[in-house]
Amino acid sequence: MKVEIIEPHGLCAGVNAAVAKALSLKNVYCLHELVHNEIVVDELKALGYRFVDSLEEVPEGERVVFSAHGVSPDVRRLAEKRSLKVVDTTCPFVAKVHRAAKAFAGKGLDVVVIGDGRHVEVKGIVGEVGKASVVGSAEEAEKLHLPGKTEIAVVSQTTFDAGEVGRILEVLRRRYRVVSTAEVCTASKDRQEAVRRFDGDALLVLGSANSSNTRRLCEVASCRTFRAGTMDEVRSLDLRGVERLGVTSGASTPERFFDEAVKFLRNVPRHVAIIMDGNGRWATERGKKRGEGHIAGAKKLDEVLGWCAERGIRYLTVYAFSTENWKRPREEVDGLMKLFARMLKSKTGDFVRNRVRFRMIGRRGDLSRSLLKEVERLEKLTASFEREFIAAISYGGRAEIIDAVNRVKGPVTEETFREYLYAPDVPDPDLVIRTSGELRVSNFLLWESAYSEYYFTDALWPDFSEAEFDRALESYARRNRRKGGV
Ligand code: FPP
Repeated sequence: MKVEIIEPHGLCAGVNAAVAKALSLKNVYCLHELVHNEIVVDELKALGYRFVDSLEEVPEGERVVFSAHGVSPDVRRLAEKRSLKVVDTTCPFVAKVHRAAKAFAGKGLDVVVIGDGRHVEVKGIVGEVGKASVVGSAEEAEKLHLPGKTEIAVVSQTTFDAGEVGRILEVLRRRYRVVSTAEVCTASKDRQEAVRRFDGDALLVLGSANSSNTRRLCEVASCRTFRAGTMDEVRSLDLRGVERLGVTSGASTPERFFDEAVKFLRNVPRHVAIIMDGNGRWATERGKKRGEGHIAGAKKLDEVLGWCAERGIRYLTVYAFSTENWKRPREEVDGLMKLFARMLKSKTGDFVRNRVRFRMIGRRGDLSRSLLKEVERLEKLTASFEREFIAAISYGGRAEIIDAVNRVKGPVTEETFREYLYAPDVPDPDLVIRTSGELRVSNFLLWESAYSEYYFTDALWPDFSEAEFDRALESYARRNRRKGGV
């Protein structure tokens, strides 16, 4: 997937100044969210900010910050009455709209505000005028009823969709003599235009769900859109099938979040494969039976599934039982087969809840009928889910290639040969991890791992920690995968 940064994006000058001013204060009140962004709001909360919806909640004489969206004169009067020390971070562009709306109303004109009537910015502008009509769409503009009026003044919410503002103005100009030009702010317009120009197959808008301008960027795009406000949301995006992803951000989204998200999107392996080695040694070191090592290994695998989900890893393949493992003592083999069946049964609820698709790669004919039934039941039940957990059971890389060769009809290319492998639609593993200090490939994913990165750790599989997993991912992220190129 190619990740393209859309320019311009992100913080506008008004928000930048508001945030810089707000960050220089501590333990103050703030009327509404300073800007509609959860990362900024959380940062201010850490500085002791208390966010309130009304000035009545602020004790007399205290310091209060007015948000970048602006406030109505009523609010200013109340602040004065309560002797509050005001720090005003209203965006200069919003303040300009306030002044214009007030001047029009002063001339006796009816003021129409284009925007979302529930947004605090629009409430502030309406409050400035005293009485104003709000229209949010061309349909609403058609229905606007101002008895006896032929002349109106129109202003706009600064972050509204510039295209929609144009369409609304067209309707209003047809119906009234409009004496003003309503415009969204340059920053919003430029960001929307850059999104409209993007011709990739999906767009990711970084910003909070309650941010009007962020939502607007999603609306103006002509391709599939995704929105994410936090790294957790970025990690859980389902970007399968996306070839060219454009990334932009709302006017209140911090650039450091943007950078982290882009870094993540460019570096997280889509497919991690693990050779879970060392269960037997782990058990022996503790004077336990080898079977107990495998039980501890299964528990670890359960944890790793959670780590992958949290980090947005789409595919996890684990080497659970190789074609060579049948040579192990009967008791151990039987114990492992029972463990697989038990785990698949007990994990069913989790797989369905977390939308994880299960599948098996390996020689199905080697499995007992009851285990194969369990495998196929779970595969069918989870077939439509997005994330994948792939268990290699009775698997060998050479066996997979031989099985493929025996099914091939006619000449093949590398691409068409892939169709004969066990899971042809699964992308090749980006990263293969092997635990227990062994530095071998051991017949695992021979065809698929041709260009995989390897990470070896001394930890025995039941001891494999989340910190070690992150070290593997960091090591992968730092590597320059040239795949034979320069
Ligand atoms: C290798 O350690 C591990 C295995 C052969 C089995 C691993 C299986 C699980 C963790 C359960 C997986 C469950 C499902 C449903 C896929 P080893 O025994 O070779 O360790 P050693 O090298 O120390 O002897």
